[in-house]
Amino acid sequence: MGDKLKSVKIFRKKKENKEFVAGITAYNYPIARIADECGIDWILVGDSVGTCEMGYQTTIPVTMEDMLTFTKAVIKGVKNAPVIVDMPFLSFHTTSEEAVSNAGKFLQLGASGIKVEGVKKTDNIKAIIDSGIPVMGHIGLNPQYYFQTGYKVIGKNKEEVKKTIDAAKILEKIGVFAIILESVTTELSLKILKQSSIPIYGIGAGKNLDGQILVVNDILGLSFDFKPKFSKQYVNLEDTIREALIQYKKEVKEGKFPDKEHIYD
Ligand code: KIV
Repeated sequence: MGDKLKSVKIFRKKKENKEFVAGITAYNYPIARIADECGIDWILVGDSVGTCEMGYQTTIPVTMEDMLTFTKAVIKGVKNAPVIVDMPFLSFHTTSEEAVSNAGKFLQLGASGIKVEGVKKTDNIKAIIDSGIPVMGHIGLNPQYYFQTGYKVIGKNKEEVKKTIDAAKILEKIGVFAIILESVTTELSLKILKQSSIPIYGIGAGKNLDGQILVVNDILGLSFDFKPKFSKQYVNLEDTIREALIQYKKEVKEGKFPDKEHIYD
């Protein structure tokens, strides 16, 4: 665990100070450490680890065991930023005891809170909050519901608008400390922002929210052909890594590596 205890109260403070908040996902020690040292406001150990790092097509195969492993690595790299961890598919959908126990495991590793997708299991979400675990909500597009909804923009019809607004109200009422809106029209996200007193962050939900969260592999150019419109690629690490590996292979084959400086006398 890092040196300091990182309370989620910081999110409310930043909203009060009207400071936009920049969050990213991280799944391993080096990226988490670099993100923290760069002053990224918060880090999400997202279940997007499934698609970004484990080669799955959706986040659905990601297990509690997977999330615990990646969380351990991220926590080791972070000294300042709060780390929030995604509850993976079905991990809070059985009994409230199991939901609380699963969520608690992440706090015991040093996370500051957990994130839940959707509002279908509010009794269990409330049980987690009542047990002292800070919870972030996640509505709009919920990738854990992929096989029911697919990937799409939410807020294009009245029913979706009402459902999403109601979901935000329910989550705030049961005590989540912030909400992520994913893949939501700007009009809908601003309605939710206006009605909410807790921080509202977006991924594909437009500007002027309390902050943004992006998937780190998309920012760094490590998502191969997946280039979502809402993200921005700041660097092309795929090309950089390929160049380095091709160069290394070439030097080994040509007998140029290792050179004098890489050899013990
Ligand atoms: O898992 C994830 O990366 C997420 C973000 C899309 C917010 O939940």
